[in-house]
Amino acid sequence: MTDHPTDHRALVTAPFRGEGLATLESLADVVLDPWIDQQPIRLYNGEQLAERVQAEGADLLVVESDFVSGPVLELPLLAIGSCRGDPNNVDVAAATAQGIPVLRAPGRNADAVAELTVGLLLAVTRGIVPADADVRAGDPYRDGMLPYQRYRAWELAGKTVGIVGLGAVGRAAKWRFEGLGMRVIAHDPYADDATYALDDLLAEADIVSMHAMVTPETQGMIGPEQFARMREGSVYLNSARAQLHDTDGLVDALRDGPVAAAGLDHFVGERLPADHPLCALPNVVLTPHIGGATYNTEANHSRLIANGLAALLAGERPENIVNPEVLQ
Ligand SMILES: NC(=O)c1ccc[n+]([C@@H]2O[C@H](COP(=O)([O-])OP(=O)(O)OC[C@H]3O[C@@H](n4cnc5c(N)ncnc54)[C@H](O)[C@@H]3O)[C@@H](O)[C@H]2O)c1
Repeated sequence: MTDHPTDHRALVTAPFRGEGLATLESLADVVLDPWIDQQPIRLYNGEQLAERVQAEGADLLVVESDFVSGPVLELPLLAIGSCRGDPNNVDVAAATAQGIPVLRAPGRNADAVAELTVGLLLAVTRGIVPADADVRAGDPYRDGMLPYQRYRAWELAGKTVGIVGLGAVGRAAKWRFEGLGMRVIAHDPYADDATYALDDLLAEADIVSMHAMVTPETQGMIGPEQFARMREGSVYLNSARAQLHDTDGLVDALRDGPVAAAGLDHFVGERLPADHPLCALPNVVLTPHIGGATYNTEANHSRLIANGLAALLAGERPENIVNPEVLQ
């Protein structure tokens, strides 16, 4: 807590750090109790948050994963900051009905997800995960072959990568791919510089990297037909959402072609059963939705939310307000 009381008091249950924390401390007394430091996991619901907000006497609430609904929205809060691009943990309609501004943090994890995407690409193309296992097992020279024989691969430089969804993450991935010497093509009906038709992209790309948001239009957009259009030996990356593809279709494409390898950071329901066919395939690398998990993501959302709160308290309209109608 700051030692110079202000008129405001902020309960922050999100991780909050860096420049954004300093800004917030200049605006309010800060009670910082991030959910991410709790073990076992602590996620407040609307009742629990209401109790905590009242106990702290807070008029500002900043959350990342707690659920802001029901009774907490009946309290006289001046603002709610949701440290996410999509503030789907906040009942925005109810907040709006109560006249409470809701702030969000778009693009906070774009660089983090883009870096993991590059990591998945390198892991799948260079066999990093099985090669590591070979060394740990003391068994790199097996099946009568040297590892140098088993792990030969084509380099990424000179390959074409097709980005599907040229938003915050897609753009952060684009320059990284280009930095690796790859040619980038992109499909995004809502971005003027992503002019490839999806079918053309699938047919031309050596690597297809998914970065679209999930909407009725994008849900299942990569199904058996689309996998079949991909190039023989291609790589499929999805660090966005599993809902964008048909998982059975992906398994078939990995088993029988044309997809040679895949790197995935998300699964429907946030997990894969251990006996899922994907877990038995050697040509995939699977990570459990850790794309955004960097300290930089936390510093980014802290800065975005704190700047938004500063603007609100100064009577200005914050850039990242979800429900600007409450300001009228
Ligand atoms: N793995 C993780 O930890 C992690 C973290 C953050 C975001 N994500 C996911 O990454 C994806 C991108 O996030 P973002 O922050 O860049 O979102 P964003 O909103 O900035 O970008 C999404 C892009 O998808 C585009 N799009 C919409 N419909 C499309 C269509 N039919 N075809 C192609 N593109 C279409 C939009 O125009 C937009 O440019 C989302 O699915 C998000 O859920 C994953």
